Amino acid sequence: MFKSEKLAHSIEQFIENGQWKTHEKLPSLREQAQLSGYSLITVLNAYQILEAKGLIYAKDKSGYYVSQPKSVIHPPLTQMQHSKQIQINSTVFRYLKSIQHSDILPFGSAFPNPELLYNPKFMQLLAQHAKRKHSYLNSDNMPPGNHALRQIIANRYILQGVQCETDDIVITSGALNALNLALEALTQPGDFILLQDTVFYGAWQAAERLGLEVVTIPTDAEHGFDLVAFEQALKQYPIKVCWLMLNVQNPVGYTVPNSIKQKIADLLHHYQVYLIEDDVYAELSYGKHKPLPMTYFDRHQRVLHCSTFSKTLGMGTRVGWVHARQFSDAIQHLQLMSTVSVSPLVQNALVDFLSHHHYEKHLRHLRSRLAQYKQVFYDYLAQHLPVDCQIHFFASGYFLWIELAQHCDSFKIYENLLKQNIGIAPSVLFRLEKSTQNYIRLNCSFEWNDTMQYAMQQLCLSIHQHSELRS
Ligand SMILES: Cc1ncc(COP(=O)(O)O)c(C=O)c1O
Repeated sequence: MFKSEKLAHSIEQFIENGQWKTHEKLPSLREQAQLSGYSLITVLNAYQILEAKGLIYAKDKSGYYVSQPKSVIHPPLTQMQHSKQIQINSTVFRYLKSIQHSDILPFGSAFPNPELLYNPKFMQLLAQHAKRKHSYLNSDNMPPGNHALRQIIANRYILQGVQCETDDIVITSGALNALNLALEALTQPGDFILLQDTVFYGAWQAAERLGLEVVTIPTDAEHGFDLVAFEQALKQYPIKVCWLMLNVQNPVGYTVPNSIKQKIADLLHHYQVYLIEDDVYAELSYGKHKPLPMTYFDRHQRVLHCSTFSKTLGMGTRVGWVHARQFSDAIQHLQLMSTVSVSPLVQNALVDFLSHHHYEKHLRHLRSRLAQYKQVFYDYLAQHLPVDCQIHFFASGYFLWIELAQHCDSFKIYENLLKQNIGIAPSVLFRLEKSTQNYIRLNCSFEWNDTMQYAMQQLCLSIHQHSELRS
């Protein structure tokens, strides 16, 4: 171990043991050099190691401070719950309309900053295809979708060790369409489905639309996924289908460890339940390896896996897919009664783009920008939010999940900020439990500038004001 790593390790232990508290100033480089007996350069290197790990942060000309602990999830105080009738669509509709205008700063948006998704090579390929007659031919692109595109998607799974055939894949109009088609193919009105208690609102909307009863399981403090509650729910209720997000979960951000994914797969088989996996952010994990989909662990054809290019190449592509396996035909039946096919032009351009390593390069660039931008937001908020707030930070994606003091209602903060053209996503979109609506999802995929700083100042101010209104 280098001297700087040794020093970083011992400071890390002080932070873990609570000897250095959150936002406490660390000794200056000179003081630390005197205290530890190491050279200034060793101390600087040690601080930089800790900064890269997110354990400390630098303030301009002021020194280094201890960061807020990142990935501890405080589970909301909810238990397993059963809702017979979901009613969320009108709330989501009003919310989406309220943040739609281009004047509203898009911290409430579910999509990454379009500037980062814009890829000149992809645009060039789209323009080339737009000039060719055969690019518009529907016959090669009707359900289940363009064969070459499905083959490329299948190969990407095979590279991860997932068993996947080209014919298992059905191309859809984005992931939301894939998820809805899968749920419709597997359920009848009145059936029971299982969701995590804090989820992407699309899951609630689909349950409402299809007249399904919903059982929810709480968010686990350590891993995000509560395996005990999961098995209990499967035992207690006639669950037909689970709709889960286990990688870079929206809105909280956690990725469930492989050991738990394996147990989920075993339980699905044991209780003969299907899983629809919403896996739209896996490509935005900052780690060396993309998190594994549930299809990797599933040896009994119990998982339908859905993903998209919306989060990596732009929502406007409207190309997603479902790894549907034995349900491919049922899904295509539903597709031919509703969305019919996905734009042949975009499917053809994607084939060219994905065949030539442009995509990997684009993803590397995208991930590194997202990591950089999110860190700046985190550092600012860690310094300026009230001390009773907790920011849930995970090394992936572009959302921060902010937990306010329990008496705060994030919807009021959203309404207040909207008057100033600042959009945020309040927790009422993601969780039904009325007594715990003290969370905000914040999209941090933007480069820091004066406008960002002003908006974050206003957010912190509004949270301070609401925190102080303690009943
Ligand atoms: C978790 C999650 N699933 C699915 C979708 C839908 O993606 P698409 O635009 O591909 O339909 C979104 C988009 O916001 C999302 O956040």
